[in-house]
Amino acid sequence: MGVEITDATKEEIEYLSNADAIPNEILRFLGHDISRQVDVNLYATSSVQNGNRILDRLHANPDNTEIGDYMGYYIQLDLTQSSTSWSTLIMSRLDLLTEPWIFVWISLTHVPATIRALVATKDYGTLFSPSGFREALFGIFWETIGPQIKAGNEERVVALLEGRISGGRIHDKAIGASIHGTVLEVGAGSGNWADVLARFRGGVDAAGSLRNRKNAGSGITKIYGVEPNPISAKALQKRVNEVGLQDIYQVVPVGIEFVDDPTAWDGKIEPGSVDCIVGIMCMCSIPEPEKNIQLLYKLLKPGGHWFVYEHVKVSRGNSLLRFYQWFCNIPWSVFMGSCRLCRDTETTLRATGAWQEIDLAQSPDHTGYEVIPTIIGTLRK
Ligand SMILES: C[S@@+](CC[C@H](N)C(=O)[O-])C[C@H]1O[C@@H](n2cnc3c(N)ncnc32)[C@H](O)[C@@H]1O
Repeated sequence: MGVEITDATKEEIEYLSNADAIPNEILRFLGHDISRQVDVNLYATSSVQNGNRILDRLHANPDNTEIGDYMGYYIQLDLTQSSTSWSTLIMSRLDLLTEPWIFVWISLTHVPATIRALVATKDYGTLFSPSGFREALFGIFWETIGPQIKAGNEERVVALLEGRISGGRIHDKAIGASIHGTVLEVGAGSGNWADVLARFRGGVDAAGSLRNRKNAGSGITKIYGVEPNPISAKALQKRVNEVGLQDIYQVVPVGIEFVDDPTAWDGKIEPGSVDCIVGIMCMCSIPEPEKNIQLLYKLLKPGGHWFVYEHVKVSRGNSLLRFYQWFCNIPWSVFMGSCRLCRDTETTLRATGAWQEIDLAQSPDHTGYEVIPTIIGTLRK
């Protein structure tokens, strides 16, 4: 990307600030405009010599937010050139727009395996129940697709659990608390994140511990893995054993709506007893989200943290995209278990209680063309 400081064909925005760090609104602004294929360059003014600003280019490392010596920030938008060719741009947007259909197709290809599994276990009740079959299909589909989704998102989720996410962006150093104490994993699925949670186990601070961890030493002492899908719950227990978490990880084989009901499972999670809730791509699947998110809020201790990484309703982009997401949700609801594309989880979470702190945002890398946009961050009760 060629950079010139002044040019009549370019629109300049100057932003002078005495802040110690690059303000989040600039970082978000940067990510947003990069996604629109406008060349954006962020400079910090480090000094003025003979009336000319001496500019240091920060664009190469926008995460470098600790630059207290600079006098201010300077953003240059180059509206005349794009670093990406039109064909690449169109292909990347087509990828985003077709994403739900690819998931639906992959789920469809798991129908024969689901039938075979249900016949093999003589589970004809589930085989001939539309809702039961849908759940079974999703459980088997997720065993294939879940690890791939995990691979693509692990860096982000690890950063989240280490307290290194703010404004939707990964930071080098911890900004908030890392996951610790008694943890409730909502919709744990087949245990994709069990190995990651194992790294935060209490007392593990030597080999294998994660960098920049706040609250180091406290770590996780107990995990409730809430998973109502029987196929997933079985795979979850197997995974928990594989990663050696069986002494602290209890699989709760019911929906979150029953976690405080001792008649539904072999235990009870008391209100105000949980230090951290973690939910990775699961609020899209729970029934009655307002009611159940409220229930989860009550389980959190005052000061407890909710670690969120969820796909949500389209809020950016034009109304056509919102309509398209609604349309994609029709086949999606048939082939993706209880998952729904158009859940406004962010609004529900924010409105659920008196949070002391909310740091929840879409990734600044989102282009505005995502049919499956995500939010990431934490809420502190
Ligand atoms: C998309 S999967 C995500 C699984 C896991 N978090 C992962 O990232 O691999 C959503 C999970 O939510 C679970 N789920 C559905 N209804 C639920 C409920 N009422 N309570 C808790 N989990 C539920 C589904 O069974 C499914 O395993």
